[in-house]
Order: sequence, then C-alpha cells, then structure tokens
Amino acid sequence: MIFISKVVLVTGANKGIGLEIAKQLASYEGYHILIGSRDAERGEQAAEALKKEGLSVEALTIDVADDRSIEAAVQTVKSKFGRLDVLINNAGVLLDTFTGAPSSRAIFEQTFSVNVFGAASTTEAFVPLLEKSAAARVVFVSSGLGSLTFLADPEGRSVSFPAPAYRCSKAAMNMLALTYAQRFRAQGWKVNIHNPGLVATDINNHMGTRTAEEGAMGAVRLATLGEDGETGTFSENEGPLPW
Ligand SMILES: NC(=O)c1ccc[n+]([C@@H]2O[C@H](COP(=O)([O-])OP(=O)(O)OC[C@H]3O[C@@H](n4cnc5c(N)ncnc54)[C@H](OP(=O)(O)O)[C@@H]3O)[C@@H](O)[C@H]2O)c1
Repeated sequence: MIFISKVVLVTGANKGIGLEIAKQLASYEGYHILIGSRDAERGEQAAEALKKEGLSVEALTIDVADDRSIEAAVQTVKSKFGRLDVLINNAGVLLDTFTGAPSSRAIFEQTFSVNVFGAASTTEAFVPLLEKSAAARVVFVSSGLGSLTFLADPEGRSVSFPAPAYRCSKAAMNMLALTYAQRFRAQGWKVNIHNPGLVATDINNHMGTRTAEEGAMGAVRLATLGEDGETGTFSENEGPLPW
C-alpha cells in the first residue's frame, strides 16, 4: 500500500502548465496528485501517462465552470481521502482576440466564469476538506497581465498586449487569493499567487518563450512551503511581482 502524506488537486491538469505542476509535485515523496480535468477522458489519458512513469496520480473530473461538477469532485475527494492538503487553481482560459479589438460581454462572462468564478467556487467548495489538513496550501495560477502596477506604467511590462477580459480576470483572481490568505492566516494556511511567465502552451498558440517545466516551478515551490513560508504574495520564479 502506498503511503499518502499529501493529497493535492491541480485543476486544468490534463495539459500545459497544470500537467507539469502535477508531474513535478508527484515526484515529492508521499504526494498523491489528483489530475483535475473538465473532460474525463482527457484526464484519464494524462493520469495514465504519469502512472506509467511510476507517479502517484489519478484523474478527477472537475469543470470549474459547473457547480455540480465541483460538488461531485468534492464528494469524491471526501469519500476517498477525507481531506485536501493542497489546492492549485490552475484552470484558465484566454479568450480575448489578439487583434486588440475590445472584448464583448460574452468574452468577459466566459473568461470570468472560469478564471474568477471557477477559482472562487472551487476554493470555497474545498474549504471544509482543506480545513481537515494539518498544513493547507492554496496556489492561484494568475498572470503578470493581472498586475495593475505594470499597466499603469506606460513603459511597464507587456503594456502592448490588450486582452482586457483576461487582464481583468487575473487582477480579480489576485484579490480573490488575498481574501483567502487573510481569512486563513491565523490557521497557518499558505495562500499565494504564481505567475508562470510567458509559457508555450495551447492558451497562447505556443507563442511563449518559457517551457511548461519552467512555468510550473514557482507553483510547485508555493505548494510545498513549510510552516515558515510566506502567505498572501504574488510572485514568479525570479521573485516578487508588483500588484
Ligand atoms: N501559458 C502562459 O503563458 C501563461 C501565462 C500566465 C498565466 N497562465 C495561466 O496558467 C494557467 C494554465 O494555462 P496553460 O498555459 O497551461 O494553458 P492550457 O494549456 O490551455 O491549459 C489550460 C487548462 O485549463 C483547463 N480548463 C479550461 N477551462 C476549464 C474549466 N471550465 N474547468 C476545468 N478546466 C478548465 C483546460 O482544459 P481543456 O484541455 O479541457 O481545455 C486545460 O487543462 C491558466 O490559468 C493561465 O491563465 C498561462
């Protein structure tokens, strides 16, 4: 029988940065990773590939835009493990056009449904299971595009990339994360925000310059923080980011 010291859920882990976060965390002794995927088959395929590498993983169907799917995932984790130690809110979409055209209400709604309401509903639904953990860790996979400071500076980073719906969603996600950091500070939870940087994945048609391995590193560090680790921070591999 395998000893499980940490039960970890990574949402949107069937591919891209989420898959890599799952893979890296699974290399930690005693870590068991739930490969969150909105599509059951894609989740099983990703989990099977990692199992063949000898990693302790299993697929968990969770569509973060669907409350019934989230609730079913909570019940599965509750009945199998009785707790959740680490939640990585990684599932995300980038739906703005690359042309700079203003985004429609529909684009804003779809983007917020996953990136903000999805992360919020998932985190809230798992609070009772995270409260059962001796050392809860929550990581929000956000973006440097959510930094108000960068965009307020005409010379700031990535100012030429419009993506208003995506930017607003990640700025909102950062605030969401801070509400959880503050709410569970006294209980010792570590709730932090990670920017993967510009990573070559499907979300940007593989225009990124970083690999998924590099994009996952900061999230893995934040997921495995010790008792003396930080909470309520926004960072990337290179260090802290401005809000
Ligand atoms: N790549 C970058 O340069 C970059 C930079 C900054 C931040 N990020 C953030 O990093 C995270 C991962 O993105 P990625 O680059 O790895 O993109 P990706 O390869 O497109 O992966 C996105 C993942 O999110 C999942 N997803 C989308 N909607 C979902 C929903 N309703 N419920 C559950 N899962 C859902 C996707 O599932 P399907 O396969 O079913 O679509 C996929 O597994 C996102 O939050 C993104 O905003 C990425």
